[in-house]
Amino acid sequence: MSEIAPRIQTPYLVAEDELDRSLRPRRLEEFVGQETLREQLAVAIEAATARGEALDHLLLAGPPGLGKTSLAQIVAAELDVPFVQTAGPALERKGDIAAFLTALEPRSVFFVDEIHRLPRTLEETFYPAMEDHRLPITVGQGAGARVVTLELPPFTLVGATTRTGLLTTPLRDRFGIQARLEPYAEGELATIVRRSAGILEIELDEDGASAIAARSRGTPRVANRLLKRVRDFAEVRMEGVVTAHAAQAALEMLEVDARGLDRLDREILYAICVKFDGGPVGLSTLAIAVGEEQDTIEDVYEPYLLKEGLIKRTPRGRAATPAAFAHLGLDPPESGGPSLF
Ligand SMILES: Nc1ncnc2c1ncn2[C@@H]1O[C@H](COP(=O)(O)OP(=O)(O)OP(=O)(O)O)[C@@H](O)[C@H]1O
Ligand SMILES: [Mg+2]
Repeated sequence: MSEIAPRIQTPYLVAEDELDRSLRPRRLEEFVGQETLREQLAVAIEAATARGEALDHLLLAGPPGLGKTSLAQIVAAELDVPFVQTAGPALERKGDIAAFLTALEPRSVFFVDEIHRLPRTLEETFYPAMEDHRLPITVGQGAGARVVTLELPPFTLVGATTRTGLLTTPLRDRFGIQARLEPYAEGELATIVRRSAGILEIELDEDGASAIAARSRGTPRVANRLLKRVRDFAEVRMEGVVTAHAAQAALEMLEVDARGLDRLDREILYAICVKFDGGPVGLSTLAIAVGEEQDTIEDVYEPYLLKEGLIKRTPRGRAATPAAFAHLGLDPPESGGPSLF
């Protein structure tokens, strides 16, 4: 299998690591939040199990760190079937897909992470496989070439993507269940923080959990990472207990502000507000201005800034809202200028 193209990683927003694995919920009932989706999955899983069938193909979309990989593994655990994992960029040839699919045990979950990065030419390979467990392959070459159709066991394709927009409609339409994971509410994040503190044996009080939740930008992965950083701080500088005071002091040191924005978030806002006079500015120009990959800005930073109403997407690029100026302590642009709002 070829290596997955490296992603630009920021200290605590993206990377998949040991922490993710140890804190990952294993069963549906441990998975916090996303009520509607959880209910929908519970019903579908129970029905498929009762019929002894494979679960419908499932597409999970949403920003990094919201629980797509966790849910894919949970689905396999709840169905009590094997979990086989790969990623879009790792599938380069039709043979790579054939090797995976023909080796699956019936009803397995086949997880394709970053499915939007599957080469376009390979998408079509999945169509007959998803629809009726067939995989036509060409054997031989030139005049002697012929198509042989391999029968596949029934399986569930679980695709994860940070960008539904990049999936073609034919592929997207073949997923019977399509779900979008939404940013978590603060109360849910506090629950996740308490659960993680329990697993990591961190002493944490209610206000400490809330303080971390409030600055986790709606993302469980960020909440877990902040919890670990705050624990270090509490152990070294305080009495070891994660209180609201310890959390605030630690997060200040980490340059995470009261709204959960980190340095790069603020650099993005500053660039739009000051360098580009409030915008609109194109994504590629913005990426150069802050020295970050365009993809990372779009996948990791922008969703939260949009959700918080700090930036807007316009046909001509990204623009800052008055709330962004206020957050940075800047005066909003002259009302006589070109109006964006
Ligand atoms: N609903 C949840 N309840 C409890 N913990 C969660 C939940 N969602 C995510 N987490 C925690 O956040 C971590 C990151 O989640 P996960 O790896 O599933 O995200 P992801 O959506 O696959 O991210 P990426 O797009 O970067 O692959 C998990 O290890 C887990 O600890
Ligand atoms: Mg993942």
